[in-house]
Amino acid sequence: MGEYDGKPADAVQVRVWDRPLRLFHWALVICLAGSWITGDQGMMEWHERFGLTALALVVFRLIWGFVGGEFARFSSFVRGPGAVIGYLRETLAGRHPEYPGHNPLGALAVLALLLLVGTQAVLGLFANDDILYEGPLYHLVGSSLSGTLTGLHHQIFDILLIAVIVHVVAVIVYMLFLGDDLILPMITGLKRMPTKDAPSGVRRTPWWVALAILVVCAAGAYGITLLA
Ligand code: HEM
Ligand code: HEM
Repeated sequence: MGEYDGKPADAVQVRVWDRPLRLFHWALVICLAGSWITGDQGMMEWHERFGLTALALVVFRLIWGFVGGEFARFSSFVRGPGAVIGYLRETLAGRHPEYPGHNPLGALAVLALLLLVGTQAVLGLFANDDILYEGPLYHLVGSSLSGTLTGLHHQIFDILLIAVIVHVVAVIVYMLFLGDDLILPMITGLKRMPTKDAPSGVRRTPWWVALAILVVCAAGAYGITLLA
């Protein structure tokens, strides 16, 4: 809880991350770990399953960013460069402002991670392993271009790995140096905030909307395999 030293009654629990967003996050972590291991081991059938699931999750998240709960929406956390610089200045001056949702700097990380995972998964569709496996959309690009895209699939993975390490280190820095535990809210959905900073009401979207979007995204990902 930061440097907040008011009476406990001055703090409230705010439901910041809705359940679909939390499930999305931890499922994505599992899919990336699964993609890494299976890619490394050449288990391409499972690599495709984990990778396509990651793709479906990212598309789901992009849609949820427009129709999901209050703090899942891009409009609630994506800010211009001015806000990012202002946030950095305040934090470095020892006045770390706490946000109910993503802070302006974290918002950039969110977009970068989504972009990298999405790009990585799309490249995989066109990749091949030089042995037996061809991605489901390999036939659209042919052997030579597929080779190039496979090279990119390897390179983007290295960038993605660095981004994930930065992401996790940042979360740990917030916990250790800014006294701001972001991990528990990503598990429980609840963030403890000073009453004066807490939003008065948090708009929610019913769970079945998330389920419907997810079903469409999963069907789309499965549909891609039928194009092979
Ligand atoms: C975000 C999800 C994905 C991640 C993180 C990922 C990661 C990786 C990594 C790390 C490798 C290199 C393995 C190695 O050589 O040691 C790899 C290889 C490969 N991936 Fe993915 N991948 C993803 C999605 C996909 C998808 C959706 C497909 C196809 C449907 C795919 C197809 C391939 C192929 C064909 C290779 C073999 C390349 C080669 O042997 O040179 N990937 N992937
Ligand atoms: C493959 C690895 C990971 C990826 C791709 C990833 C990706 C993301 C993304 C896209 C978000 C934004 C959430 C959203 O608005 O949808 C996020 C947030 C978050 N992630 Fe991860 N994540 C990874 C691993 C982890 C791990 C291992 C931890 C725990 C130590 C973690 C902790 C968090 C936390 C606490 C937030 C919320 C940050 C905030 O309050 O602004 N992530 N992550």
